[in-house]
Amino acid sequence: MQTLTVVITGAAGRIAYALIPLVCSGMVFGNETRVNLRLLDVNFAADKLQGVAMEVEDCNYPLLEKCIATLSADEAFHDADVAVLLGGFPRLQGMERKDLITKNAEGIREQSRTMDRVSKTTIKVCVVANPANTNCLVAMKFAPSIPPENFTCLTRLDEERLRGFVLQKTRENKLAGVCAKDIKDLSIWGNHSATQVPFIDCGYIETPGSRVQVSELYSSEVERKELTSQVQNRGAAIIKMQQASSGLSAANAIANHLADWLNPNVSTDKIFSMGILSTGNPYGIADGLVYSFPLRRCAGGVEIVPDINISAHVREMLAASEAELQGERQDAESLVGDLTIATRARL
Ligand SMILES: NC(=O)c1ccc[n+]([C@@H]2O[C@H](COP(=O)([O-])OP(=O)(O)OC[C@H]3O[C@@H](n4cnc5c(N)ncnc54)[C@H](O)[C@@H]3O)[C@@H](O)[C@H]2O)c1
Repeated sequence: MQTLTVVITGAAGRIAYALIPLVCSGMVFGNETRVNLRLLDVNFAADKLQGVAMEVEDCNYPLLEKCIATLSADEAFHDADVAVLLGGFPRLQGMERKDLITKNAEGIREQSRTMDRVSKTTIKVCVVANPANTNCLVAMKFAPSIPPENFTCLTRLDEERLRGFVLQKTRENKLAGVCAKDIKDLSIWGNHSATQVPFIDCGYIETPGSRVQVSELYSSEVERKELTSQVQNRGAAIIKMQQASSGLSAANAIANHLADWLNPNVSTDKIFSMGILSTGNPYGIADGLVYSFPLRRCAGGVEIVPDINISAHVREMLAASEAELQGERQDAESLVGDLTIATRARL
């Protein structure tokens, strides 16, 4: 049985509380992988972090080898295999992700420098703290000994929200017996923000004896626009109701993101969304951004699904999200310096 050392930052927070059980119960890395858990937070949350660690002890998860709760990034990231970066100031009602750049970019830079020094160079990093795409770019930049392809950001929550709305639509259209898992190959392009582009044109619904393209359920432009707006605004709607950003669904999406990316036993034939470095992408998105694309597994990693037909209207939306990310990059550069990604080997 292998053991993976998994770091969760912001471990005293809401998402971590829902994520820890998923990581320790085999849902992410499978039932044949043990987990060595490192929970990191900041001084301010020290007592809460200790309380979470005490609860983890009381759970006696069969796959959990060891759990360390710490305020030291060096201790947390030492020899780590996987890191989920949740630590940061959350988006509150009325805030856009770009308001968070000033709050979170410097914290991410410091953690990234630590990873560069003390983690395995093979570490895989999922950035969740907002603004997730731009924070991911910052993390990549300040850990130059770790390959850029080892850094991704979470847009899977947006994909799952899209799946949820499509599921509702199947019910309105009286398509019998459809479950969420039957709705495949949906994707999110661009930024994890209100400019994100929920994309249904590759999507299909497969039940025994039937296959329906998702686009058939959205025959008018009005319906498509409504779907886009519902997905783009779902996060804000949840914040309004709960006075806090999504916790349970974010944790679930992180588990799916990590499993589809890293668990070799998970099915390889589907499309899923993650933010990755845009450099060299086949859709003409500017290099040097962390942009969400439809991905699939390939030998040795993941690849952007090529040759997808994109309408002029969707192209405009992709460009708007790209422009927003270019603006975020500039804002972040004014705080942490140039974010051009160049790799070098660790000495
Ligand atoms: N990408 C997405 O889809 C998505 C979805 C939901 C939430 N988020 C983001 O995820 C992050 C976590 O959300 P949450 O609801 O758990 O927030 P939360 O406020 O409940 O928890 C955040 C935790 O991070 C800690 N923290 C702050 N700075 C830190 C640092 N430098 N190092 C380590 N820990 C630090 C805080 O003490 C707190 O315990 C937020 O930035 C939120 O906006 C992203």
